[in-house]
Amino acid sequence: MIKDYKLLAVASLLALVAVILAIGKASQTEFAKHQRAYATLCEVDNYEVEIKQINVNVGGKSLIDRCATCHVGFANPDAVDFKQPLTTHSPIVPGADTDPHDLAAMGCVVCHDGNGRAITMEDAHGHFHMWPAPLLTGGAVQANCIRCHDTNAEPLAGAPQLNLGRQFYIEKVCWACHTIEGVSSGKIGPDLSDAGARFSMDYLRESIVHPEANIASSRMPKFDWVDDDAVVTPLTIYLKSQRKTRLREYAQAPVGTPTPVLAFDDPTTPSAAAGRKVFHGVQGSDHPRHGGCVNCHTVREADGLLKGGHVGPELTYVGRARPEDYIRDHIRNSRDHAPDSVMPIFYDLTDTEVDSLLLYLKALDYVDAGATEGSRIFTTYCASCHGLDMKGRGDNYRLLDPYPRNLARRQFVESYKDRFPGTIAKGVEGTAMPPWEKVLSKEQIQDVTDFIVQRNRMSDGEGADRSFVRLDAPLPKAGDMDRVTEKEVVAVDVTRGKTAFMGHCTGCHGKLANGKGPNAYTLGNVYPRNLINDQFMERADLTDDRLYTSIILGVPGTPMPSHSHLSDQTLLDLIAYIRTLTK
Ligand code: HEC
Ligand code: HEC
Ligand code: HEC
Ligand code: HEC
Ligand code: HEC
Ligand code: HEC
Ligand code: HEC
Repeated sequence: MIKDYKLLAVASLLALVAVILAIGKASQTEFAKHQRAYATLCEVDNYEVEIKQINVNVGGKSLIDRCATCHVGFANPDAVDFKQPLTTHSPIVPGADTDPHDLAAMGCVVCHDGNGRAITMEDAHGHFHMWPAPLLTGGAVQANCIRCHDTNAEPLAGAPQLNLGRQFYIEKVCWACHTIEGVSSGKIGPDLSDAGARFSMDYLRESIVHPEANIASSRMPKFDWVDDDAVVTPLTIYLKSQRKTRLREYAQAPVGTPTPVLAFDDPTTPSAAAGRKVFHGVQGSDHPRHGGCVNCHTVREADGLLKGGHVGPELTYVGRARPEDYIRDHIRNSRDHAPDSVMPIFYDLTDTEVDSLLLYLKALDYVDAGATEGSRIFTTYCASCHGLDMKGRGDNYRLLDPYPRNLARRQFVESYKDRFPGTIAKGVEGTAMPPWEKVLSKEQIQDVTDFIVQRNRMSDGEGADRSFVRLDAPLPKAGDMDRVTEKEVVAVDVTRGKTAFMGHCTGCHGKLANGKGPNAYTLGNVYPRNLINDQFMERADLTDDRLYTSIILGVPGTPMPSHSHLSDQTLLDLIAYIRTLTK
């Protein structure tokens, strides 16, 4: 028996050696074939097949580069008509008299990536699973110019795609949410300063084209130009070029101090025309703070067509709906009004520029056609956020926090229809819901409210008026008999309230009460309320009565559950605690 095992071991050893030899032989023949073909084309007789290797010094380490083993003719000007891999390398800087790059000394991997040690094509080009840096070809090679040139600071000759991508990064407002050292300092999305070293071209492209592919609840906007390769490819190359370790050191430009470029000729007199320029972004400008609002906001100009990005609300009516100061403040610091806003802070637009933006926005006007006054108002002013089907999923909903209300939930609408005229007129502070009283008359506000209510009743199937009656739950006070404990309600206690909150509410509302608890994003539809949103929590109509009713009975048509099992004492303590969370 033992002998059999020995035999087996010897046999497998032999087999292994044979396999290794075979692989070695195969690779030998692969590059040998190219070198012999090259020798024949060059009419050289005694050609000696060999591995051509150079060691490139990259930041103190040695990079082995054997690409020339097959790409033998790269430096031979007479090889231009030979086929790949034997042909002459094209000039790196087209039009330059003598190319400044000595490929024989720098090798190929510094620009093309791939696996420099390998001597089979498959392996060398890095087209195998898990190789972190597969071959870059065509314009994508320009992503590696940054290793020796400061392409973030200025355009580089011979790298047109990269230069274009750098321009798009500014023009398409990526800077607003992302940091790239020396270029931008946005904080909403991940830092992209090392994106090129960490991600493949494919991943980066996908992150731009299908932001929801990697994270379903992505807050990365899906832009309306993502089908346009002429934008996506240069942007991808630009992101691929971002890497922290480089082969040459150069002084990094300080963040946030780009040279101001004036958006328009006259820097002192505001005008709607100048505002339009800022809004649409100053083409080719390197000054990131300059506008580009149209990437995120739609507007309808004279032609009536809705144009622009769907990250923020439509702004056709904002010039009339909101006071001037509100708009000014919002451009300077949106977080003052909407704490969870992703809108960038345009702190260094000049006063003239902000005034011009105001003039531009105020000049916009558009009225839709509609079967009835109510439906006309809804499609003109409300559908961009609430959606034509009223489900709160207008084109831009994804980046609004909180989402626009789903107005196709009959229970919600029937429960709160009486307060709608008020909330439509005044807006809902701390959210994107604007006040409409300056745009719509009282009658029009009633018309659109009726339209919302009727639509819900009709879609309910029976068509009949089946009003949903909300229970009444009057706020108890100290001295009353508690529903649950049947003891007398005593003075409120914030500490007890906090304990109750941690026990019953944090799963949805979060420990910080900011509405982002562990269960928050599994709920769908309406996310838990951010209870530390000062603007919302201090609204005049957010009385203790409303809080009590909402907590004890829940909010119908949303995931906010009823808490009628909690004692009145606990509910009052909870309200007292919630009140301490805001100013
Ligand atoms: C074993 C031989 C071999 C080695 C080693 C090799 N290549 Fe190639 N390479 C080829 C052949 C053959 C082609 C042409 C066929 C093709 O495009 O698939 C080619 C094509 C290319 C192309 C053009 C591809 C395209 O899609 O246009 C680039 C760029 C390239 N090689 C770079 C490299 C780099 C960089 C290395 C070193 C990391 C390398 N090669 C190592 C054989 C090799
Ligand atoms: C300084 C950067 C740089 C170095 C080093 C470099 N290349 Fe290139 N290579 C380029 C650029 C740029 C192109 C043109 C790509 C385009 O726009 O079509 C290119 C094109 C090519 C092509 C044509 C196919 C393609 O990608 O379009 C091959 C093959 C190639 N290089 C192989 C090599 C080999 C082999 C070496 C090493 C001897 C090498 N390169 C070194 C930058 C470089
Ligand atoms: C491994 C380092 C390295 C890489 C990678 C590299 N270059 Fe260069 N480049 C040099 C060197 C060295 C010079 C010579 C002049 C100098 O020292 O700046 C040079 C000079 C140039 C010049 C002319 C002088 C200047 O700075 O304007 C241009 C244009 C240029 N490179 C373009 C490119 C492009 C395009 C790429 C990418 C496809 C690239 N380079 C990739 C090292 C590199
Ligand atoms: C409104 C803010 C916002 C804007 C504007 C924005 N992004 Fe993002 N981006 C994000 C957020 C947030 C993420 C984080 C991942 C997620 O939520 O999906 C992200 C993720 C990414 C990723 C994936 C990074 C990773 O670590 O996986 C890439 C690549 C990216 N963005 C590129 C861009 C580009 C290019 C632009 C400009 C066209 C842009 N982003 C504009 C918010 C933004
Ligand atoms: C990265 C995308 C983005 C960019 C760029 C952007 N915004 Fe916004 N904006 C938003 C989002 C999202 C909201 C909704 C949340 C909020 O109120 O801040 C918003 C809200 C607003 C509002 C408030 C609307 C209301 O009724 O409450 C105004 C006004 C506004 N933006 C103007 C501008 C102007 C002017 C610019 C250009 C200087 C601009 N925005 C650039 C995303 C953006
Ligand atoms: C810029 C986006 C936006 C536009 C435009 C908009 N809404 Fe809203 N609306 C919201 C958001 C966000 C909420 C959720 C507020 C909240 O969380 O309480 C909301 C909530 C509501 C509510 C529920 C109010 C309540 O008392 O709970 C009603 C009703 C409503 N909107 C009606 C309208 C009508 C009618 C119009 C058009 C005249 C309109 N909305 C236009 C964003 C918008
Ligand atoms: C299952 C998840 C969930 C739990 C548990 C939960 N909430 Fe909520 N809560 C929500 C959602 C979702 C909303 C948003 C409803 C809306 O926008 O109208 C909300 C809204 C609220 C509001 C605002 C009501 C209003 O009138 O606008 C208050 C206050 C509140 N919750 C307090 C609490 C307290 C206190 C607890 C614990 C006793 C609690 N919630 C537990 C999901 C939850």
